Amino acid sequence: MNTSVIGRSLRRVDGPRKVTGSARYAADFNQPDQAYAVIVGATAGLGRVTGIDISPVEEMPGVVAVLTHHNAERLPYLPHKAGIDPAVGERLHVLQDDTVRFYGQPVAVVVADTLDDAERAAAALRISYEAKPPIVDPTGPDTQRIVPEAAARPGARTLADRSRGDADAAVANAPVKVDARYGMARENHNPMEPHATIAAWDGDRLTLWSKSQYLVNEQAEIAAIFGLPTENVRVICPFIGGAFGTSLRTWPHVTLAALAARHVGRPVKLVLTRKQMFFTTGHRPHTLQRIAIGATMDGQLTGLVHQGAGETSRYEQFMEALTSVTDFMYSCSNLRTEYRLIPLDTGTPNHMRGPGEASGVFALECAMDELSYELGIDPIELRRRNEPELDEAENRPFSSRSLMPCYDLAAERFGWSRRSPEPRSMRDGRLLIGMGAASASYPAFHAPASARVRLLADGTVEVEAAASDMGPGTYTSMTQVAAEFLGVPPERVRFRLGQTDYPPTPSHGGSWTMASVGSAIRAACIAVQEEAARLAIADQHSPVFGASAGDVEWNEGRLHRRGDASRGQPYGDIAASAGRPIEAEGSAQRDPEVASRYSMHSFGAVFAEVAVDPDVGTIRVRRIVGAYGIGRVVNPLLARSQCTGGMIGGMGMALMERTALDPRDGRPVNAHMADYLMPVNLDIPEMEAHFVEEDDPHVNPLGVKGLGEIALVGTAPAIANAIFHATGKRVRNLPIRIEDVL
Ligand code: MOS
Repeated sequence: MNTSVIGRSLRRVDGPRKVTGSARYAADFNQPDQAYAVIVGATAGLGRVTGIDISPVEEMPGVVAVLTHHNAERLPYLPHKAGIDPAVGERLHVLQDDTVRFYGQPVAVVVADTLDDAERAAAALRISYEAKPPIVDPTGPDTQRIVPEAAARPGARTLADRSRGDADAAVANAPVKVDARYGMARENHNPMEPHATIAAWDGDRLTLWSKSQYLVNEQAEIAAIFGLPTENVRVICPFIGGAFGTSLRTWPHVTLAALAARHVGRPVKLVLTRKQMFFTTGHRPHTLQRIAIGATMDGQLTGLVHQGAGETSRYEQFMEALTSVTDFMYSCSNLRTEYRLIPLDTGTPNHMRGPGEASGVFALECAMDELSYELGIDPIELRRRNEPELDEAENRPFSSRSLMPCYDLAAERFGWSRRSPEPRSMRDGRLLIGMGAASASYPAFHAPASARVRLLADGTVEVEAAASDMGPGTYTSMTQVAAEFLGVPPERVRFRLGQTDYPPTPSHGGSWTMASVGSAIRAACIAVQEEAARLAIADQHSPVFGASAGDVEWNEGRLHRRGDASRGQPYGDIAASAGRPIEAEGSAQRDPEVASRYSMHSFGAVFAEVAVDPDVGTIRVRRIVGAYGIGRVVNPLLARSQCTGGMIGGMGMALMERTALDPRDGRPVNAHMADYLMPVNLDIPEMEAHFVEEDDPHVNPLGVKGLGEIALVGTAPAIANAIFHATGKRVRNLPIRIEDVL
């Protein structure tokens, strides 16, 4: 490595395209003779469709077809590829029968020449139901808790119950204890860009321009649903307007777009409405948790119990990492975690940024804060006294762990020393001021990925991978990786993603894109250099002609004999002499032997300051300061942007976000942006993200750990803890509302 492009705050290489409107999102790829599809969702929460009167609607202007379970093609719905989806069970089969499993489930699709015509016809369609009352409240008396069948995402810790020592007895016998229940409302992802698919058939080949965080999964999933060879399906998605996990799976609207296109023999465009994005595209499950902690008088944890339950649908078991951080966060020899699912009459939940970790850490970190007050010990000091020497669940060392350095850095930047420990003791005029802190953690995953590098005669470089960029800056960071390992300026590199024609990568989720795709690009760069050197050595016009492979080296993008940089040959010249671009693929995955030796996670510490009006209960977040240990920071500008974005998500979780369901029919009553509250610019305070120096040689050759999702983890408990400090009121259910602090 001669240059140092990694670590530089390069501005987004795709920024100009985004701000000038030339970046094309799924719904922008309009096709000739395209028709428009609109989904009609069930207005019953459970039961069956008894009648659909399509004839008046078929007569309406512009209407091309009305698809229902009566006339829709029967689809084979072959099993999807194992491990590719986060849920156990069988996915929703759309328009295949009359069953209604949840409110908003697609029961018809109207196709018309224009969107207006399709919308008008969809609104006119009359459907009757035999409806039963659904069960949608996980706290209700009719729910049952089930043990999930299998681990969720590849690489995740097992979600089975875990236990060491006798946690319940240790808590019962402890001189100081906290035993509390926590709840978190169902949330919806609500990215700016709605889900959208344009489907076009050419014989039995299908092209999908479709919003996806996991293109090769969408390809495989739609191929399986339609019984096609995988290679008959192409998925294209160069840009994503935010996703937060909602586009990790292939939802029914993609199937419906393809089904409708085949039915009418024209390309079909289908864009979900904001309201429809509350029905069938996943949500953060409502969770219920209990944390019980026992400690000695000097704050040593002696027992820790974490029981958690999350909602799922009746047809799939959706699992997330609700209790898994608790297993290793602190030193405690008696520990028990338990995870249960509550099946409800709802669509299947899905991963939403920091899935499980954010919810579970909220409970754990609030309970630790509660314990600190019980003990009269500073909350940071309490964490310090329980800092483990290794991962006590796995009994192996951490590849790196900077939790306490994160606390030290963030505490200093935040000004924690100015805090007076007593609740309700700090004021600014009439306002109550509170300061709170919480730990954060997220796994440093690494999934198998591949990439292609091509050296062109003009000296530029093309890099390709079937990856996505939902906003973190994949275009930019991968450009940096290729520039770094090829030793060329980043301006010479063009990184392309968002097509299944490119080498496969894992989902753009799990905060593993940088580690996985980045390592694959590094491998492809090394492979293409080997190929270029082989060609140059065989070329009698090359200055390295006839050298042995071990006798040449690369320096700033030039190949020369070892120790003789005066006569070198750049990539472009080698490609020009070869008369063709020089191309190679590379792939990378984590060495299983290294993976079995270390426990690999990112850690962080988050501080929040709130101001609460004691008379009317308004809660304002004033400042959030986080520090994170995430291994090597590839691009500090983008990394800080990820973290402040995550903090904003955490503010939403703490104070605003909640999808409320009508218990009578399961209808989301606030399925729009006016009533589903999220932080807006005026809510967003001063936010700072810092990174501690961390050199982790074990995680992957780039030394990067997960960044995207840890940014949300820890923020909500820091805010909740600050609210307790401000008001003396411990609120254990999110979002925290005005009436909770009055
Ligand atoms: Mo993330 S919830 O894995 O997009």
